[in-house]
Amino acid sequence: MNQNIINARVTFRNAPIHILEKFTLRDIENAYEQFKKHSGLDECVIIQTCNRIELFGKSKTYDKEKIKKTWASLAGLEEEMCNENLEFVENQEALHHLLKLTSGLDSMVIGEEQILGQIKNSITSARQVKASSQHLNTLFDKAIRIGTRIRNSSGIGKGGVSVGSMAVKLAEENIDELKTKKILLIGTGEVSTLVAKSLQRRGYAFDVTSRTMGRSHTFCETMGGEPVKFEEVLSGFDNYDVLFVATTAPYFLVTHERIMEAMKEKKNGMMVLDLSNPRTVDEKVATIGGVKLMNLDQIAEMVEKNMNARLNKVKSIENIINEEVSVLEASMKRLDAEPLVKDVFKSIEYLREKEFRKALQMLDEKDEKKIKIIEELTKAVVESIVSTPMNNIRKASEQGKPDVLELASKLFDYKKQNQAD
Ligand SMILES: NC(=O)c1ccc[n+]([C@@H]2O[C@H](COP(=O)([O-])OP(=O)(O)OC[C@H]3O[C@@H](n4cnc5c(N)ncnc54)[C@H](OP(=O)(O)O)[C@@H]3O)[C@@H](O)[C@H]2O)c1
Repeated sequence: MNQNIINARVTFRNAPIHILEKFTLRDIENAYEQFKKHSGLDECVIIQTCNRIELFGKSKTYDKEKIKKTWASLAGLEEEMCNENLEFVENQEALHHLLKLTSGLDSMVIGEEQILGQIKNSITSARQVKASSQHLNTLFDKAIRIGTRIRNSSGIGKGGVSVGSMAVKLAEENIDELKTKKILLIGTGEVSTLVAKSLQRRGYAFDVTSRTMGRSHTFCETMGGEPVKFEEVLSGFDNYDVLFVATTAPYFLVTHERIMEAMKEKKNGMMVLDLSNPRTVDEKVATIGGVKLMNLDQIAEMVEKNMNARLNKVKSIENIINEEVSVLEASMKRLDAEPLVKDVFKSIEYLREKEFRKALQMLDEKDEKKIKIIEELTKAVVESIVSTPMNNIRKASEQGKPDVLELASKLFDYKKQNQAD
């Protein structure tokens, strides 16, 4: 490719949750600005979910070190941390990885739906702030379409395994007689919905709390559970034996002090499952006697044990992805020819229009019908002469022949001629 597509990432696959959360880019708009300004990237898309923080970029030349430096400065990290944890791939491998993402193959719960929505949101917001442009917009649109097709044809997402159901299973495995325990769900977003569905399906009663009481009410109307006031809950964790916490709060909601206080009142233990990234439960609560804390790392382990049915489908999806990557790569390479093709068409159109007007003046023709015929004739002549070399340029670009592009841009250099007019 004349242009490079790069991917820099840190994901749950190579980093535990306490490392992963450190790479969070809190101000995405600023991050786009900085990556473009300091890393040699001229297009960017950032994907940030609980399991991954990824940067896709487009550039003719780029500098890995500068990307690491910019990331480190944005997240407030030592550069060493970026050296140890950031993975880099480019071009074919980057496209391959994006297809794994959209088809759900790189997710913790293979085939889960959330990632597709998250990728759609990422490219939409990158488009809005003009961080992405022709290359990445085309790439993401195509990758989303391919991923959706793969999911539909393989049925990879079927079978009811989700982060929510895994969290409930983890609670069941660690607590005797879960049915007799008081369960609280903190959060009313997507993940809480998955937890609530699973609790409901397995017949567990639970309370739900969220900053806005209205949101808890609406949530409980559709997902089940009893809404409880947020402030009361925060100062009264002693009423609960199991907490599922899934919020995007930028600080610890479940603090060491609050759980210490709760445990003074409680005779039995407490299990806290933090599904958030960044975490919203202070890990120090694990040091309190009788408290068992689990987070996304343990859920990842549990998921691994439960993915056998889906894993059978992975091989055949990998094969589809391998075929799709070459098609996708060809379309990306083809894009490299577009600026030249566009310029040539624009220049030739300018020349055609100029010669057409000149001829009309000489003929002093007033008959609209005849003028139209002459104009259509000039357009048809231009089209039939230019379309073949332009398609050949596109083909050469698709086949990775930048020398043809270079030569063509010299041969079709109309700038001087246009400037002379
Ligand atoms: N989506 C996934 O696939 C997935 C998978 C695993 C883990 N996670 C992690 O799970 C967490 C929740 O994700 P989600 O997708 O469910 O998010 P979401 O749909 O955006 O919901 C966010 C929830 O967090 C609450 N919240 C936000 N700021 C808060 C604050 N300052 N104090 C208290 N509550 C606050 C919101 O409550 P109100 O807006 O009502 O106040 C809402 O209930 C995230 O940390 C995410 O990284 C997500």
